[in-house]
This record gives sequence, structure tokens and C-alpha cells, in this order.
Amino acid sequence: MCGIVAYIGNREATPILLEGLKRLEYRGYDSAGLAVVNGGLKVCRAVGRVSVLEERVEGDGGFTGTLGLAHTRWATHGSVTEANAHPHHDERNGIALVHNGIIENYAALKTYLQERGHVFKSETDTEVLTRLIGELYDGDLESAVQAALREVTGAYAIAVICEREPDSLVVARKGSPLIVGIGSDEYIIASDPSAIVAHAAQALTLEDYNVVKVTREGFRSSTLDNIPLTPKVQQLELDLEQIELGSYSHYMQKEIFEQPNALRNTLRGRLDRAEGRVVLGGVSAFAKEIVKARRFILTAQGTALHSAMIGEYLLEDLAKVPTECEYASEFRYRNPIIEDGTVVVAVSQSGETADTLSALHEAHERGALALGVVNVVGSTIARETDAGIYLRVGPEIGVASTKAFTGQVAVLTLLAMFVARRRFMSPDDCADLIRELEAIPGKIETILAGAERIREVTEKHIERENWLFLGRGYNYPVAMEGALKLKEISYIHAEGMPAAEMKHGPIALINDGMPAVFLANRGRQYDKVMSNISEVKSRGGHIIAVATEGDQNIRSLADDVLYVPECPECLSPMLTVVPLQLMAYYAAVARGHDVDKPRNLAKSVTVE
Ligand code: M6R
Repeated sequence: MCGIVAYIGNREATPILLEGLKRLEYRGYDSAGLAVVNGGLKVCRAVGRVSVLEERVEGDGGFTGTLGLAHTRWATHGSVTEANAHPHHDERNGIALVHNGIIENYAALKTYLQERGHVFKSETDTEVLTRLIGELYDGDLESAVQAALREVTGAYAIAVICEREPDSLVVARKGSPLIVGIGSDEYIIASDPSAIVAHAAQALTLEDYNVVKVTREGFRSSTLDNIPLTPKVQQLELDLEQIELGSYSHYMQKEIFEQPNALRNTLRGRLDRAEGRVVLGGVSAFAKEIVKARRFILTAQGTALHSAMIGEYLLEDLAKVPTECEYASEFRYRNPIIEDGTVVVAVSQSGETADTLSALHEAHERGALALGVVNVVGSTIARETDAGIYLRVGPEIGVASTKAFTGQVAVLTLLAMFVARRRFMSPDDCADLIRELEAIPGKIETILAGAERIREVTEKHIERENWLFLGRGYNYPVAMEGALKLKEISYIHAEGMPAAEMKHGPIALINDGMPAVFLANRGRQYDKVMSNISEVKSRGGHIIAVATEGDQNIRSLADDVLYVPECPECLSPMLTVVPLQLMAYYAAVARGHDVDKPRNLAKSVTVE
């Protein structure tokens, strides 16, 4: 969604701000803007790509100076127009502001400001906050920001500059991430570490209600009431190579191919085959509560929900603990019953998804132990849970989530084994499953080696506008995930569902040659899946089956077979999803879409 970059130092700000915005493009946006202070305040905004803004700024030639800020906007309040793009500014005092989040009480504040003569130029909540700071400005930007934020309800990460204070930049946070990257005699502030990693190795992560005044000489952190805080500076756990494309054409492609090594990182140090046990340092302090849990609730959105659905099967199958999985957005508002012994697990790549965060708060407030299964270290969900297990799959930049999915499934498998082993699973059974888990990355490599054939099969159907994805048991969520992947980047309509559900209605959709992708690997429901394949085939559907290597039987039913190596059924989603990720990727490429920046989508959805 929206992205912030700001700079204060001794170098020209504009090139650093534009480079930072380009690194944030993957988050999804519809307009961009930039402001610098050099004598006066200079602002430029543009609808569309950062490259449009760059052309304008460079064409103008006047965007010089060593203090500035920039933004990519994903519209929430007001349509996609230049007037609604950030930075917003208050001409009276030469204040410019960029904002991620939502100011909930903006309407009342706007009326108050209009009564004082402010004339609004946009439809945004952000302009209200900008003008409120301007209204309260009395020669000290930091105090004006603190005073304005005391009046505000909602969520924000902001950066503010003022032409009257060319040596300072003020930033603040509540509910939306913001990091101050510390370079040598310079500071780069961003909502995402990828925008600062090229310039800083250390960073200060703002906590809620922190206001930080940054000058070229240092920074000062305080509360909204100006009580000084001791800032915690940390090493940035990201290097440039991790966020560069290298030899790949798209981040999604890179991340699909990174999965074997990403999973090796997820598993590293967490499997003790000799002792037949799983070691999860991040949750060990709560091991007793987790092992004695009477119920797990897994909650997430999108791809993370699909991995959570697999987690539900794993926890019930391996650990035998009653488990429910639910969309965070629904769970939050249905007055959920949380009994003693409930453990809620929030699953999220970004750790910033607003729906998931709200569900987590609700469950936590009602007494559940809150665990996070998160990729981004130090993200809000990671910080607001009692304990958690990081995915360790590295930064995921493609909007379509791929390696985070397999990482989430791997972590939920570890969690289920952790509980199972402490309840009744024998060390030998655990050691056997560990051996199989350790073999998964190599098996994914085998699937990836056959990517070309997956591309050929996909391209045969590239003109079709409707696809079905069908699976049973552990592979029902994989079918949902395959459909979501295809939809979000190739804009082809796809539905994923339990294979048995098809005959209760969706079978009416099947027409001649309609692609139906079946997850038909060997497992408890293999024969039943074969019957479902026959039902679709006899109505003219084109069957693409994801099957277990060596299964010749399936060739008599399927038009195309994509093989995956054999593995225990409970681990199979980490394999069967890979051909579906590749199909979605090749379909989007064949249709000429911008794979990493799909229309209307944002990488991390920070509004409910
Ligand atoms: O960061 P999160 O895992 O919490 O994000 C949840 C969903 O927004 C995300 O998985 C989304 O569905 C992806 N675009 C799927 O590829």
C-alpha cells in the first residue's frame, strides 16, 4: 500500500527519494509525490508510476536540496488524482507531510479547520492532518506535530518538513511501520527497510506514539507529550542482494525459484532428528500453554489464510487438537467465543495486515494466548503477539505471495509436530517425519527443473477466461491458493474448491475445453479425486492433473499431467502448490501483465 521515504543529510535528497520510491513500488500504489526544502518548499505530484514523477521532477530542474520527503499513494480517501496524492502542504507555514494510514476523526477536524479559514484542495484525511499541524505551528515543528497527533484518532506513519526549519525532519508512528535508517551524517526514513538498506546498516524502528525529530547531527525520540525516550538502534537484517532481481525477470519468478533455499532457512536449527523432536525457540517460553491448548484458532487473509487452512488440518491430524481457521476480517466482528486454553495464531507474511491485526487484538483481549507466524521481523503482528515463529524466507517483494506460503506451511507443520511430540507422537515417528520434511526443499528443486513443461501446458489454455482448481483434504486449500494466484496476476477468473463440492453446483460451469486443475497426488482420497476427474472429463472439461511421480493410471483420465515427487500427504501442499504458482506466473507473462505490480493490488493491506 502507501510508502514513505524521507531524507536529511548532506547529499542531494531527490535522487535518494526517487530511488527509495522505486524500491517501494512493489507494495502497490496509484500516484506518487515528492517535496524538498531549499530556501522555500517545492512540491511535485503525479498520477501513475514513479517514472512519471521522476520525469516531471527532472524536467523542472529545481528540486535541489538536502532535505525532502516522498510518497507512493494507494487511494483510500478520495479518488486517484494529483490533488489527492501526497505530499500535502500547508501554504501558510510551508509545511509538507506524507502519511500512511487513516485519520478516523478527519471529518470533525476538517470542520474545525474550515472554521479557521483553511481551504482544502483534496478529499484526503491526510490534508486535514497537514493543515492541523500548520494551524498549531508556532515556530517549532516537533511541538506542532506532537500537539496535532494528540487530537488524532486512527493510524499513521508520517514524515513532516517545514520551509522555516531547513535543518529538521519530524516523523511519528501509530499502527503503521516507520524506520529511521542511520547512515554516516545522514538519515533515510522509510516505511519499509527495502528503501533504506542501500544507505544504512543500522536503524531505529519507531514504536506507537513515538515522535522523532531528526537533524543532520542526530535524532531525539519522545512521546506525544514530549517525554524523552531512549531510542533502540538495531542492525538492519536485510542486505541489498536479497531485494535485487539478479538474473530473474520478475520478483515473483525469483521467489518461486528461491523456495528450496528459503525452506532450508525456515527449517534450519529447528529439527532435531537424533532426539526426534522439533525445537522452536520463539515459543519455548509458552511451551506449556501451547502443548496444553484445548483449541487453536488460526486467522489470516488471502494466501496466508490458505496456509492457515492447511495448518488446521495439520494441528488436528498430527497434534489432535481441535482447530478452527477463519478469515481474520470475519472472526473479528462475529463476537467470537474464546474459552480458557485457546491459542490464537495470526499468520501473515508482512505482519502488518490490518484485518489480521484486529482479529489478533480481539482474541488477545478475550484472553487467548496470541502467537504469530510472520515473515517480516519486528513487524506489528510480530511485536504484538505473546510469542511467535518467524518464517525466515527472506523479503517477499512480488505482490503474489509464493515463498511465504510454503514457509507458512512449513512453520505450521513444525508447530503441529511440536505439540504432537509433546502429547503422544513417538520420537521415532517424529524423526521419520523430520526426515521427510528435510527432503522437501530438494523435491521442490525437482519440480522447478520441470518449469518449462508447466509453461507449455499453461500456454495451451491462455485464451480461456474461466478455470477451476479442485482438491481434497490437505490439497483443498492448495486449490484455493492456485485459483487466487491465477486471478491476482493474470486477471483470469478462477475458482478453487473442494473437489466434491463441484458437483453441488459449479459443475454447471463446465464447457468444452474448460481447464480444470486437479490436485490428484496419492493420498487418502485419491480414488475419490479420480471419480471427480471423470465427472469433469465426461462433461468436456480439460483435465490438468498434479499427480505423484510414477502414477501411470492418471494418464488415462488427465489430458495433461504435471508430476511432483512422492511425500507424506501432510507435507504434500509444499510440493503441489509449486506447479500452480508457476502456471499463474506463466499465464500472466503470456498475457503481457506486469507480474510484480498487478492492478488494484497492494503487497501489504493495512486498511480493514
Ligand atoms: O502480509 P499478509 O500475509 O498478511 O497478507 C495477506 C494477504 O493480503 C496476501 O496473502 C494476499 O492475498 C496476496 N496478494 C496473495 O498473493
